[in-house]
Amino acid sequence: MQSNVFSAQLRVQGGAGPAARSPSLVDRPSPGRRTAADGFSWWQKGVVYQVYPRSFQDSNGDGIGDLEGIRQRLDHIVDLGADAVWISPFYPSPMADFGYDVSDYKGVDPMFGTLADFDRLVASAHRRGLRIILDFVPNHSSDQHPWFIESRSSRSNPKRDWYVWRDARPDGSPPNNWLAEFGGSAWEWDEATGQYYYHAFLKEQPDLNWRNPEVQEAMLDVMRFWLERGVDGFRVDAVHHLVESEEPHDNPPNPHWRAGDSPARRLIRLYSLDQDETHDAIAAMRRLSDSYGEDRLLIGEASLPIEQLMRYYGVSEPGFHLPFNFHLIKSAWKPDVIARLIEDYEGALPDDAWPNWVLGNHDRPRVATRIGARQARVAAMLLLTVRGTPTIYQGEELGMADVPIPPDRVQDPWEKNVPGLGLGRDPERTPMQWDASRNAGFSAGEPWLPISADYADVNVSAQRTNPKSMLSLYRDLIRLRHEEPALSVGIHLAAEAIGPVLTFRRQLGNRRILVALNFSRDRQEIPINAPGEVLISTHLDRIDVQVADVLRLRPNEGVVIGKTVE
Ligand code: NOJ
Ligand code: CA
Repeated sequence: MQSNVFSAQLRVQGGAGPAARSPSLVDRPSPGRRTAADGFSWWQKGVVYQVYPRSFQDSNGDGIGDLEGIRQRLDHIVDLGADAVWISPFYPSPMADFGYDVSDYKGVDPMFGTLADFDRLVASAHRRGLRIILDFVPNHSSDQHPWFIESRSSRSNPKRDWYVWRDARPDGSPPNNWLAEFGGSAWEWDEATGQYYYHAFLKEQPDLNWRNPEVQEAMLDVMRFWLERGVDGFRVDAVHHLVESEEPHDNPPNPHWRAGDSPARRLIRLYSLDQDETHDAIAAMRRLSDSYGEDRLLIGEASLPIEQLMRYYGVSEPGFHLPFNFHLIKSAWKPDVIARLIEDYEGALPDDAWPNWVLGNHDRPRVATRIGARQARVAAMLLLTVRGTPTIYQGEELGMADVPIPPDRVQDPWEKNVPGLGLGRDPERTPMQWDASRNAGFSAGEPWLPISADYADVNVSAQRTNPKSMLSLYRDLIRLRHEEPALSVGIHLAAEAIGPVLTFRRQLGNRRILVALNFSRDRQEIPINAPGEVLISTHLDRIDVQVADVLRLRPNEGVVIGKTVE
């Protein structure tokens, strides 16, 4: 292990891997991405902020957030410094999976407002320089979607083949052993027409049949509808579920499954997930999106091992600009593990592919709960300084933690179907905490999920004026990222663990950045071979301090050091 972490001798990450690249290659975006004067697209330099609309801001007192509420709170997102907002689904929906069960892809659920509210939101966001990314849910519709109502009406209905229908086995049992993500068999018997339909998630979320060209065309038309309304891109939901094997093979058992894991993980989803044909569908989405201008962004949601994930950048044609990288969420918070992860991920990226990182979302326990409040600040520094587009989940910027949900207030169908395993997602979906007033300023009515007990201190209003708050840390880190091109678009160099300290470097031209993150509760010292200045500390108290020979880190402290070489 090397000891001089600010070495001028640059060691390129991933040097041993098959996809190793020279700094000059990473420095130079492909021609297709040259949309800004410096050659990098807005989404490469920018920060994405996720809004979960039910829980962001309620404007009409029904206890549920809405589009007008988001519009009223846009200034928070602008002040934070984010460049784009991804909004989880607000389409008409029976809300079996809180909007991820869509019954009309081209509308707005009255609970969230109207299309006019949506247009106003886009206009307000664009006036502020914020882009709007929609959540596109192509894998499944609601069972209340008119397409599915038609499809299940008879075997000869023209829309029968729009969904995945199969015969029972001779004994009447489902066609195979595939399991639904949210519990039970993935096959639901339809008494009226005497066949099973496939659902990767709830039975109220039948899978669309993407092998049918009419389905593909109808779904591309949905994207067209929103692109015409001015949206800047899509986060594409559950995209690795898009296509299933046509053969009724059973999925094999998963030898790594343990009691307490999600029951759906008992099987390796060999035939029901990540099928080759998926990439044709993604390429079609990309072609359509590109036809509206190359600054439209496509993010793919596919929770997969790194090697499989890389194909979502495109196989024979371009795929997603950013297949979501959830590996920080899944990895143990240990400096050697995270260093390895960064190197493995950087090393696996295809040429010209742009990385991205995520600490949390509406599906996973919050980062502050996973690793604790102090380390959550260190994680924020990692997210906002490592190479790749960061996505921030609403409330992360306040250090919001998971909220315990009393049994009588459980909402999430996953928790209801598979209780007691800690799979429920309500704890990370509780309302955004705006101020110390009633319901944290979220709603004048009874919120759909409880407000966290800590809201009097953990809220936007209190943290905005506290120069050392988590919000100030996020804001200052994002500002630094925007001011220091080496942090947004510089190459990545050598993530490594020096004892409990994770370090990595960034470089652009003659600008060098060192990031050092103390994962421990003890003071640490690491040697540095050339002086630099502290650009920011997670403690937000030392700036412009020169560091020579040795960098001294306080417990749970991260620092960013910069220097310009002649
Ligand atoms: C992933 C979404 O993020 C999650 O909330 C949803 O339940 C599933 N996809 C199904 O749409
Ligand atoms: Ca409302």
